[in-house]
Amino acid sequence: MTYETILVETQGKVGLIRLNRPQVLNALNDQLMTELGEALVAFDADDNIGAMVITGSDKAFAAGADIGAMASFTYMDVYKSEYITRNWETIRNVRKPVIAAVRGFALGGGCELAMMTDFIICADTAKFGQPEIKLGIIPGAGGTQRLPRAISKAKAMDLCLTGRLMDAAEAERAGLVSRVVPADRCLDEALEAATIIAAYSNPSVMMAKESINRAFEGSLSEGMLFERRMFHSLFATEDQKEGMAAFVEKRKPNFSNK
Ligand code: HXC
Repeated sequence: MTYETILVETQGKVGLIRLNRPQVLNALNDQLMTELGEALVAFDADDNIGAMVITGSDKAFAAGADIGAMASFTYMDVYKSEYITRNWETIRNVRKPVIAAVRGFALGGGCELAMMTDFIICADTAKFGQPEIKLGIIPGAGGTQRLPRAISKAKAMDLCLTGRLMDAAEAERAGLVSRVVPADRCLDEALEAATIIAAYSNPSVMMAKESINRAFEGSLSEGMLFERRMFHSLFATEDQKEGMAAFVEKRKPNFSNK
């Protein structure tokens, strides 16, 4: 598959996608979001891939939706085409883990895209924000919904209403990111985490992801029930037998994803 706005490669069992519109700090347009969705779906369907990483450049993960493209849109243009938002849904249906490696700016739609991945590893240079208010709009791809769940209502209000940016240290304190590392380590750190994940039994990885996502979207009692059923079902896998036998026999497990 040839893409124009992203660069795609594999490193072992990890699929790596680089957002690649450097002239506009990886501003997100319809083409980029479509290509990103296609690449993620292809990796998700590939038995040789166990996890994915999305990254940008040193300067920007993504500076938001493409303002130039949006500037002259009318209400009917965006309503009828569901501009950008329609394509954003693809990433939510990806079943294998997706990690965002964020260096530099992750603003507006860029911050929302990072939040749609399963977790964010960021560089000490990272800056997160939802500055849409400065443009006379509001976040349109989950900023007002995922931020309060991820970092609290107070900080979500602060960021969305003032448009100020949050640095890496604040993002880590707030719980938006799982790790902050020096900028030149960021991508490697994410690739190493993805490599670790990809070596585990894929069914258990997917069920862990699915269960944690339940915690985000449903009630505690429903989530507990869902987790318990997933847990029980893993005892039907060969990998559960292999993983536990390997522990007892003091050797490394050899997972078959079955
Ligand atoms: C289009 C963008 C862009 C964007 C930057 N550029 N962000 N183009 N859409 N979101 C372009 C600039 O116009 C400029 O092009 C080039 O990238 C470099 O940017 P500079 O502004 O010169 O860089 P710098 O001075 O370092 O400032 C970086 C920045 C600033 C702070 C990130 O670019 C900025 O504020 N960008 C907009 C951030 C934003 O408002 N994002 C939210 C968008 S709305 P030229 O041609 O001049 O070199 C959104 C809604 C989501 O995301 C809705 C989802 C459905």
